[in-house]
This record gives sequence, structure tokens and C-alpha cells, in this order.
Amino acid sequence: MAWAQPVSFNKEVLPVILKKCATCHYQNGYAPFALTNYEEVKRHTKEMSIVIPNNSMPPWKADASFRDFAANRSLSNAEKELILSWIKSGATQDVSDSKITLSKPFKPEKPDILLKMNKPYLLKASNLNTYISYKIPFELDSNYAISGIQFIPGSKIAVHHASYQIYEVADDVDVFAGPDYFTYKEDSLNRVDDTRDFNYFNMVGESGVLPKERYHGGWLPGTEKIVFPPGIGFNLPKRGVLIIRSLHYSPSPIDVYDQSALGFYVSKMPISRPVGFAAFQPRNPSPGFSWTIAADTIYRAHLNVKFNNDVSLLFINPHMHLIGKTFKAMAITPNADTIPLVHIADWDFNWQDFYRYKKMVKIPTGSVLHAEATYDNTNQNPFNPNYPAKSMPFETGMNESNEMMRLVILYLPYLIGDENISLE
Ligand code: HEC
Repeated sequence: MAWAQPVSFNKEVLPVILKKCATCHYQNGYAPFALTNYEEVKRHTKEMSIVIPNNSMPPWKADASFRDFAANRSLSNAEKELILSWIKSGATQDVSDSKITLSKPFKPEKPDILLKMNKPYLLKASNLNTYISYKIPFELDSNYAISGIQFIPGSKIAVHHASYQIYEVADDVDVFAGPDYFTYKEDSLNRVDDTRDFNYFNMVGESGVLPKERYHGGWLPGTEKIVFPPGIGFNLPKRGVLIIRSLHYSPSPIDVYDQSALGFYVSKMPISRPVGFAAFQPRNPSPGFSWTIAADTIYRAHLNVKFNNDVSLLFINPHMHLIGKTFKAMAITPNADTIPLVHIADWDFNWQDFYRYKKMVKIPTGSVLHAEATYDNTNQNPFNPNYPAKSMPFETGMNESNEMMRLVILYLPYLIGDENISLE
């Protein structure tokens, strides 16, 4: 269209790139190159004209037509067209101000409390994915009401994703005793049951009192600080343990040290509504569930969970391993209404989010949550770690030679008006 106004890089394209790409693509950021000014963007226009139309960048896996979430990273159609037409028309820079660039790299606001790994973990140069569980014990001067949280990776190139849990422990537990971490390996698969982790990390009281979970969260590149609405959050106990339960490191060609941390933002008001969480997995024996996915098959696994109270959902996190393909969850109310919860149409192990709803989602008493996950254990699946395909067991741990179906929710007991509370 010869009569169309040329697209301005500075005024139109760059603001979109800074908002939707530079959150990961900045100097020494999560992505392999920066996209923060004209020269950097210009250098990558060829790849951009592939990854933008095929939706692989920005990474965002939740199907917004089923359920959209806060902090959706994807580009709108208008934004896609804008960038692509700028590339098509020569990717030129405006004659005017050429100096516009990202002023500040994306640094989180300094947290009030920082819990950091005791020692840097040495990730040895290897071609292997590494999974560890790291214990961060703490003793503070008092309890704190927490309304915001931010995971801070130590090594941006090494840390691939992480999930973490905060526990209060019995008074007689010496939180500082016991090892700092363990590495998940084939032979330690059984270690993934919670009670064994607690014993391993010396978190159980003399009388057998188990730790109480206070918070459960997850992080991957691009996940920003999480802030809860007023009065909502959790209470960080005075003494306790933070476990970064599955800290996944990407294969690294060089030795890398990582010392990741979790930052907390203290609430000015008390937390009247502590966030609850639940993790659901199919268990044997349940109808139609088999512990193994046979080689050369497509397998469907199901979860059905009944809600016995009105709850308000805040976050949802579907989880599978490498051969997962799709994940869909919805709630069916007693009136047979369907509440869409999350749909991943093309699962990618690399991009699994703790999805935050735009507003709280009410699930009425008596509703049943249905989830269905599909797995492709054939060699047509490029992510299949086995060639030829091998049968894969369902397990509860981190290991790429097994599969998993887990759905984690963060929720509150419902109060009238919750469905109008924004989480954006
Ligand atoms: C959430 C973090 C994140 C965001 C946001 C993001 N990227 Fe990326 N990008 C990455 C990472 C990590 C890689 C390297 C690994 C990969 O390809 O998945 C990457 C790789 C790429 C590549 C190379 C892909 C290839 O196949 O060679 C391009 C091009 C790219 N990004 C463009 C973009 C553009 C354009 C945007 C914004 C419209 C964007 N990215 C937003 C994290 C991000």
C-alpha cells in the first residue's frame, strides 16, 4: 500500500519491542541477544519475521481464546502487523531522534527481605539438564506480612525455571542443621516425596511435627514481581525454611555459579486472607489412569477434583514433562456451567508459567474441576527424549525420562465481590 504512512521505528515499533521483548532481551538478560535499540533490532529482523508470525516469540503458551491471564506476554495482531510491516518496508530508522533506547535494564525494586542460597551452586560444564532442590533456612526478628514476591535468579544464563515453597517448622527444629541441597538423578527418584525431603533437610520436629507450608510459587524468565491485592498474601514465619524445590539449570558449556534468591515485599497492613494452594495429580487406582505411557502411543490422562467450598482462584500452573502436548482444565458447576481455567494447545516444557488470572475466578461449591492432558510418546514428537520411543512411567519427580501431570492452584476461600478484584 504505497499511500500508507511509513511506520516510525522510534514512535511505534520500539515502544512495543521494549514492552514485549526487552523484558528478556536485554544485555546479559535471559535471552541470547538484546533488543533494546535500533541497531540491535535491525540485526535480528530476519529471525523476527519468522518467530513473530509463528508465535514462538514472545513465549506465551496459554490459549487466550479459552482463558486469558494477567501479564499476557504475547503480541496483539496489531502489534504483529506493525512490526512485520516495518520489517517489510526496509526496517529503516527515522531521521529524527535516533538515540531512543532502553534507559534502565529491568531490575526489580529492592525487596524488603532477601533469602539467598547459602553458597553459590557450581553448575559444571556439561550437556545435561540439571535439577536440584536447595534449602534456604531463615530466622528473622519477627513474622512478616508479605504482599509481594520476586524470584531473583543468580545466573540468568543457567537458571531455566524454578518452583519454591516456604515452610514454618516446629520450634524444636534446628533450621540451620542438615545439607544445603540435593541433585535429582535417576537413582534418587524416590527422594521426591515431600516427607523424605523434610527428613533429608532436617525439617521435622522431635515429636514428628511436619513443616507447614506457607507459600508455593514458581518462576521462569519473564516472570516479574508478583503483588497481591491489599490484605492478601501470606505470613512469612519468623523461623522456617524456603525450599527451591525444583531448580532447573539448562545445559551449560562452561562452569557457572548460581546463587539465586527470593525477595519479599512487606505489607503495610496485616494479611487477613492468606493464600492457600493445592496440587492435584492423577493417582492409581483411578479410572482410566495407567502409570505408564506405552511406547508409540498417544495417551490421555485425566484429573477430576470436587470443590466442597466456594473458592476464588488466583493462579494456575499446569505441569508436564517433555512429551506433554496439550493441557486443558475447566470447572463444571452444579448448574452445568463451564468455567474455563486454562488451555495449553502446544505444550513446551521450556515455557511453563504460574498463570495469574486477570481477576479472581469464583468456583462455586460442588463444582468439579476436570483436567485432561495428552502425551505423544511416538517418534513423530520431536521432544521425545527416547529414540526409539520407550514406555514412560508417571512419577512425581524431576526427570526427563518420566512424565507427570500436575495442576497447582493458588486460591482463597471465596468472599462476595472477589470476582471483581483485579490481579493485574
Ligand atoms: C519471556 C522472555 C522472552 C520474551 C518476552 C521474548 N523472548 Fe525472544 N527469546 C527468549 C529466549 C530465552 C530465547 C532463546 C531460547 C529460545 O529460543 O527459546 C529467545 C530467542 C529469540 C529469538 C531467536 C529464535 C531462534 O529460533 O533463533 C528471536 C528472533 C527472538 N527471541 C525474538 C523475540 C521478539 C521479537 C520478542 C518480542 C516480540 C521476544 N523475543 C520476546 C526469551 C524471550
